[in-house]
Amino acid sequence: MASPKTSRSVVPASVPKINPTAVVIFGATGDLTQRKIIPALYHLRLHNRLPEHFVIIGFARRPYGEKEFRMLLKQALEDFSHTHPIDQEVWHWLEKNIYYLQGDLANPEDYIKLARLLETLPEAKYYRANHLFYLATAPKYFPVVAENLAKAGLNPQAGELEQRRLIVEKPFGTDLNSARELNAILQKYFPEKSIYRIDHYLGKETVQNLLYFRFGNSIFEPLWDRKYIDHIQITVAETQTIGSRGEYYDAAGASRDMLQNHLMQLFSLIAMEPPASLEAESIRDEKVKVLKSVPIPSAEEWIHNSVRAQYGPGILGGKTVKAYREEDKVSRKSLTETYVCVKLEVDNWRWSGVPFYLRTGKALAKQFSEICIVFNRPPCVLFANSTKKVARNWLKIRIQPNEGIHLLFNTKVPNQPALEEAKMDFYYRKYGGHYFPEAYERLLLDALAGESTLFTRSDEVEYAWKIIDALRNAWNEEDCDAIPLYAPGSMGPVEADELLRRDGRYWGPPPKEEEDIGNGES
Ligand code: BG6
Repeated sequence: MASPKTSRSVVPASVPKINPTAVVIFGATGDLTQRKIIPALYHLRLHNRLPEHFVIIGFARRPYGEKEFRMLLKQALEDFSHTHPIDQEVWHWLEKNIYYLQGDLANPEDYIKLARLLETLPEAKYYRANHLFYLATAPKYFPVVAENLAKAGLNPQAGELEQRRLIVEKPFGTDLNSARELNAILQKYFPEKSIYRIDHYLGKETVQNLLYFRFGNSIFEPLWDRKYIDHIQITVAETQTIGSRGEYYDAAGASRDMLQNHLMQLFSLIAMEPPASLEAESIRDEKVKVLKSVPIPSAEEWIHNSVRAQYGPGILGGKTVKAYREEDKVSRKSLTETYVCVKLEVDNWRWSGVPFYLRTGKALAKQFSEICIVFNRPPCVLFANSTKKVARNWLKIRIQPNEGIHLLFNTKVPNQPALEEAKMDFYYRKYGGHYFPEAYERLLLDALAGESTLFTRSDEVEYAWKIIDALRNAWNEEDCDAIPLYAPGSMGPVEADELLRRDGRYWGPPPKEEEDIGNGES
């Protein structure tokens, strides 16, 4: 048996032990399995994180045999692995542990076959009832899979020592009611502690670092409140258009696809109080408190404090981009937003009066996710003669790409009685030569270990929906028959700039080069 390459990675002492497990992937021939799950499992093995006794069962409709399924996954690994070349020894180890079961998600009989397969594989004596069920299917199948697993006796059973867990992909519901219903159905068969709701942003190293950075330094946290902070900006900007995802996206829009989940996660991690421990429930409790502290604006306030827009036709990166409404499987009259920007308040002692501006959009000028903490302007009496106002200090946390942290501050210009802006830069990639795992690697590892901090709890999902539902209801009430358009390759609609300008603020400029991250203040 090939042994994994221990020399390539450092396994910290705190990494939890993973028990022998059988992972069952529903929707095993789909995009997610190929792009994310298989590359993640390969890298976990490469870095010596998987147990010796480990099985992957693909469950899907296509009439594949084991051989074809393995070939599909091998090609997927070649195409989507974030490291190359593929280590053949590691792949062979993985490959021989891969099985395929042709099955219909809606047919209870096929789950009986699955139960039988799980019992009879040679590795079964090691993994016993340690099962990880991964719902990599369309969301409409989530309830039926949970129910059929239970019918086949594959949900957690009383007194069992092993663990049966369920990973649920996003989107989790389409509004508060549907999320509640889905929670109720899943929880009927699987206790909350065995449900792992994925928001892959939580698996990103830089997102995990938000907690470590805030609470592991004594120089930032004391300033992290309304006394010192003027406002906070959270941007997730994407250059890609919606491509072939028209059917899903036209029903979702940026508010459901990105704001309700990824941006809300960044928002609660930035705004939360220090948790009592790094344990899942402590952290999740604090995140939920943030969401609960957001006063839900009236419809009128929402309209005033939000912007939605759609990309029109144009040029992006030298290529012609068709208007969103011309995309495949998108209604020609669609009012779905491909860009959303909102201003939120957190009405608690730490944040009262500090606005949080959140924006995200497709077909924008730059691909970057960033959180900017913008501090109050210092009193200017000392520099009253200067022609420029003293710049605010900005702390920029770059989630991706060029992951890093940048501090913008003022300093004296040598040989002149004047101030100018300087910056201190930290780039992850220039530091330490650490391996940067993909989000799904970390999430799968944690789900295998039963560690739920990086997954969304049921109440968290529901509180986030409450905010987004109110926003969408306000938009619906507005009953308009047009939506502002923005040019592909721009940074979104002018209305989003206006939203800050009327508060005397402006968006931090998109990054140009790695080294060019000034705050744009002139
Ligand atoms: C997904 C959204 O959840 O996140 C996509 O459905 C989006 O629309 C993607 O493109 C962004 O993820 P990342 O990791 O590329 O920032």
